[in-house]
Amino acid sequence: MNGVPNHIGIIMDGNGRWATERGLKRSAGHKEGGKTLEELALHAKNLGVKYLSVYAFSTDNFKRSEEEVNYLMDLLIYYFNNKLEKVCKDNIKVVFSGRKVNLRNDVLEAMESITEKTKNNTDCVLNICLNYGGEEEIVDATIKIADEINKGIIKKEDLNRESYYQYLYQNLPPLDLLIRTGKEKRLSNFMLYQMYYAEIYFSDLYFPDFKPKDLDDAIEFYKNKDRRFGGVKTN
Ligand code: IPE
Ligand code: IPE
Ligand code: MG
Repeated sequence: MNGVPNHIGIIMDGNGRWATERGLKRSAGHKEGGKTLEELALHAKNLGVKYLSVYAFSTDNFKRSEEEVNYLMDLLIYYFNNKLEKVCKDNIKVVFSGRKVNLRNDVLEAMESITEKTKNNTDCVLNICLNYGGEEEIVDATIKIADEINKGIIKKEDLNRESYYQYLYQNLPPLDLLIRTGKEKRLSNFMLYQMYYAEIYFSDLYFPDFKPKDLDDAIEFYKNKDRRFGGVKTN
């Protein structure tokens, strides 16, 4: 039996459908999803999860209407500015993964502010994937590596599976448990490098309905997995 996962990733999907099925605007689902994330982050931390990575906005989500994108960005700013005190009290360190290009200045400022103010917190790292794509992360890491090799900072022999992590947006351990809510069974370009041996839990619940007890179920699923990492079970 495994212990509590060290690093959990959540693809927080289904906000729009949650709202539409209630006759509400998609934005109402995003707002409700924000509340769920708050509850889950605190619950995960209390269970002893050290890293929580959440997919808040993908590079491809820019394909949505301007109204929806702007609503999401405003909501993110609201959370970064208004939940800061709580995040600090809970000793959670906030970091971001993703590309900075295409993000509004007020979003970048709010991101910088919460990163700076939580940088010394130690209980849990909340990695918010914003304007994030897994392929983009691997491409961006490869560009950094090529640059360092060209400048003579590293030699190509220095590169291996483990050292590659230093070139990703954040140098975090690999994912142990990946959760996707909202019925779909796909990865939608999330943390492709880090999920190499993640156990994957799909939930039919829309993200706003995925509550701490559902996180407990996902963790229970994980605990019962026989993680072989390509080896053979010995007992
Ligand atoms: C996930 O919910 C949140 C974001 C992608 C920002 P969706 O907005 O994708 O909701 P559905 O999948 O359309 O229901
Ligand atoms: C993935 O959900 C992105 C986030 C949860 C932020 P999407 O709704 O964008 O993914 P697809 O389009 O269903 O694959
Ligand atoms: Mg979706």
